[in-house]
Amino acid sequence: MKRLQAVVLGYGDRGSRYAEYAKLTPSELEIVGVIDVAEHKRNEAKEKFALSDKQTYSNLDAFFKANVSCDVVINATMDQLHYATTMALLERGYNVLLEKPVTASAEELLDIEKKAKEKGCKVVVCHVLRYTPFYSRIKQIIDSGKLGKIVDMQLNEHVWYGHFVNSYVRGKWRSEKECGSGLLLAKCCHDTDLMCWLNNATVPEKVSSFGSKSFFCERNAPEGATQYCHECPKREECMFNAYKFELEKDFIPFYTWFGIGKPLNEITLEEKIEFLKGDTYGQCVFKTDMDIVDRQCVSVEFANGSIGTLHLVGGASKAGRHIHIICEYGEIVGYIEENKFLVRVFDQEEVWYTEETIDFSVENDLGDNDNSVAGHYGGDYYIMRDLVRFLSGEQTSVSTTVIEDSVNSHLICYAAEEARKKNVVIDLQKKYGTR
Ligand SMILES: NC(=O)c1ccc[n+]([C@@H]2O[C@H](COP(=O)([O-])OP(=O)(O)OC[C@H]3O[C@@H](n4cnc5c(N)ncnc54)[C@H](O)[C@@H]3O)[C@@H](O)[C@H]2O)c1
Repeated sequence: MKRLQAVVLGYGDRGSRYAEYAKLTPSELEIVGVIDVAEHKRNEAKEKFALSDKQTYSNLDAFFKANVSCDVVINATMDQLHYATTMALLERGYNVLLEKPVTASAEELLDIEKKAKEKGCKVVVCHVLRYTPFYSRIKQIIDSGKLGKIVDMQLNEHVWYGHFVNSYVRGKWRSEKECGSGLLLAKCCHDTDLMCWLNNATVPEKVSSFGSKSFFCERNAPEGATQYCHECPKREECMFNAYKFELEKDFIPFYTWFGIGKPLNEITLEEKIEFLKGDTYGQCVFKTDMDIVDRQCVSVEFANGSIGTLHLVGGASKAGRHIHIICEYGEIVGYIEENKFLVRVFDQEEVWYTEETIDFSVENDLGDNDNSVAGHYGGDYYIMRDLVRFLSGEQTSVSTTVIEDSVNSHLICYAAEEARKKNVVIDLQKKYGTR
């Protein structure tokens, strides 16, 4: 197989995880450049991949000036940069591995699709869940036809309250105004993607949705609570005390301390304490400028009459991504966190059902790779493996997704937001002409 050359645009959390594939599988992938506005991120990449000064760029223009040729650019910038950067890359003929969500509006999404077609470039979207053994096996079972057609899909994404507070109440996805994406698009375009991909015998047609920000609101703040936890008289009795959450537990340090602008291992305790006094990470969870919902449900009707629902809840005690698919002659049900699912098939003889457990704890081929690419239940690793095969013109898995396959999942998210805000049902076919 050809060894691909990749450049990473945005060497943050996601960009560095995908790049790690080159370390794991150097015969398949080589990182030949990194573009990042943050000097410490460029330095980190330089050291890791033995890059020269000429191979790191502080912005996209500098990269374009250098006229670098490579097989793919991994675009792992934040959501609000995806459109402009991807269009500029496509214009110059680069293939792009693009982080989800593609972009925040239907117009921009369709523009990217059109530009990719016009330039003959590939845009592979990081719907990493598709590539996990869990969902790809579900897809294979559905495609085998043994359960008949999908009748109903119930998907749930329960975001653990520690993660939710860190990323969506205090963190960089808390504001649609700033980040470009609402909660549904940022967190669950994966799930709407799964719905469309698993049920791609048909297309989504109608969408409705309800939801609001109901808990992380000023009215729920303890009486006398202040804007910042460091000065708050209620701090010791508060569940969400930033000093406990962010400093003591420090669940997601690469998000929390990113704003300090230094490598994590060089940040001192004093710097962290000072940082919390002036950043949203140090603010009361009931008083941040969070402008997104904290729970939402979405219903989708497909052209063949099958239906799907998605419940997204931010602030659950336990994280859980659950799927229950009911088909004409059986069903599939499971939590990805449990690394297994059940398949039930009608039993004609007994007029009951047979049940089989598909268990992935013994089935993946990640071996001892407990490193970062094994994230997302292996999805971060398998998407890179598929990308290499796809761009080399080799056989890929059932999961390979190109921009055309991501359109409907994103249109569902845009339509759901409109439906929720206007209290209407959106006809996707009429509005966007889904495929
Ligand atoms: N596939 C998934 O499941 C998944 C999971 C988490 C995040 N994401 C998405 O991945 C993307 C990246 O998220 P992240 O958490 O890695 O972000 P991050 O902030 O850790 O990384 C972004 C990087 O881009 C750099 N950057 C900022 N502006 C830039 C510019 N103009 N040019 C070049 N570099 C620039 C930053 O310095 C940073 O290093 C987001 O779109 C996010 O929503 C996807």
